[in-house]
Amino acid sequence: MSISAKSPGEYLLIRNAVEKERLELQFKAWQANIGYLLHPAITQHDHMCIADVGTGTGIWLQELANILPNSCQLDGFDISDILLPDKSSLPENITFYLQNFLQPFPEEFIGKYDVVNVRVMVVALSSDEWEPAVRNLMTLLHPGGHLQWVDCAAHECIVKAPEGTNPVNANRGMDLFRKTMNALGKTPNTAALHGIFQKSGLDACEEQIFTLTNPEVRDNLNFSVATAIAHCLTAALKLHKLEDMQSEDEIRNLKEGMLEDLRSTHCWFCYDVYVVVGRKS
Ligand SMILES: C[S@@+](CC[C@H](N)C(=O)[O-])C[C@H]1O[C@@H](n2cnc3c(N)ncnc32)[C@H](O)[C@@H]1O
Repeated sequence: MSISAKSPGEYLLIRNAVEKERLELQFKAWQANIGYLLHPAITQHDHMCIADVGTGTGIWLQELANILPNSCQLDGFDISDILLPDKSSLPENITFYLQNFLQPFPEEFIGKYDVVNVRVMVVALSSDEWEPAVRNLMTLLHPGGHLQWVDCAAHECIVKAPEGTNPVNANRGMDLFRKTMNALGKTPNTAALHGIFQKSGLDACEEQIFTLTNPEVRDNLNFSVATAIAHCLTAALKLHKLEDMQSEDEIRNLKEGMLEDLRSTHCWFCYDVYVVVGRKS
């Protein structure tokens, strides 16, 4: 198990096999609600150069490789290579690079891309890092290229419970998650992203909001949220920044309690995913 912390904020998810599985379930749950990989405003062609920043397991690029011709160049960037798949399992047009996207990118990448995609930075970025991130990512685009950011209002996630039930652990998990994230400065206002795109000079900015209600992927989503909460609390514990719990056993018990609530009361986690897109002039 490994935790990577960066200054001034800390990355609050653990990078291990369970997190890899969680990210892939989350990806499927979001896709079942969003329905596309590239926003319809983005014109596709056979020689696209596409970057996925904070690529994680690289799942978005791998899914994109299935629908675009292999003449497209697909580059993934991440501050860590722990979650990345083995190169031998990848199509030849996917390449990964180690890069902190809050730092200037090497010259070879500047102005190169038709599309820069970012997904799920909600617990990675502190609230004051979103605008600098947008401005830095814009340097990767050529004029006419698009920035696409897909993220969620994690702090506003609610537990939807049938009348007469009381999912105590699921509610407690969400409360602890919110409290811990707030204490660590991870209070991003995902709804502000569209305004940040406009303020940063992107044109034709659009926002779509998807409430994750598709019942077919509800189990995926429930597991993903309960695991994310446990991983964030574990990361905070290891950073000595978790007030309410003293051990990983307590966090494990809470996660089991959340999963048991989800099974026995048929409650479920629900939140909004934002897709924001803008074009470089
Ligand atoms: C929650 S994961 C999302 C992964 C992927 N985008 C997805 O949708 O499944 C966040 C990823 O962003 C990476 N990350 C966090 N801060 C970063 C930074 N400053 N620069 C580059 N990558 C970063 C993490 O290492 C992690 O792989």
